[in-house]
Amino acid sequence: MRILKSLALIAFAAATVLPAQAGDVAYPNGFRQWQHVKSMVLKPGHPLYDAVGGMHHIYANAKAEKGYKAGRFADGSVIVFDLFEAVDKDNAVAEGGRKAVVVMAKNSKQYKANDGWGYEVFDAKMKKGSLDAKGQADCHACHRAQKGQDFVFSAWRE
Ligand code: HEC
Repeated sequence: MRILKSLALIAFAAATVLPAQAGDVAYPNGFRQWQHVKSMVLKPGHPLYDAVGGMHHIYANAKAEKGYKAGRFADGSVIVFDLFEAVDKDNAVAEGGRKAVVVMAKNSKQYKANDGWGYEVFDAKMKKGSLDAKGQADCHACHRAQKGQDFVFSAWRE
């Protein structure tokens, strides 16, 4: 899958991470009813364009919403990065087809190797994850830069 390969390529070298359990992050059923955190469009030329170019919306379940506000995420927190094509037309940028559903799930025991976060990418037709332990470690290698915010990049706004 192109998105995974590109993410792996741009990830910083994973230092000394133990392998996480592969393929064990559940599909986040019902996430469209969760709290919307933010949206963003990554255009050609952005360093992350090849991996996650397009329009994304970030959603947090109830535990993750508390985590955003507290700066620490409890076990059971799930964050979804819902990725779409961005259609730039007639001076407007609109949502196109879904590209992937990208997930982070907190479980400090199960995902100990990646500081408590499980990572997964589900294809656009949904529900089929594909990341192995190496793939998860590659995600975390970049997210590790956000250690001060419990490895999460996006931030809460009122
Ligand atoms: C090279 C850096 C990098 C890599 C590699 C990376 N991410 Fe991220 N990720 C980001 C950035 C930057 C954001 C914030 C986007 C925003 O603010 O809208 C983000 C946001 C997220 C979010 C929303 C929560 C948050 O941290 O804001 C999830 C979920 C996520 N990424 C999952 C993944 C998964 C799964 C992988 C591996 C397949 C991965 N990421 C690989 C940089 C990266």
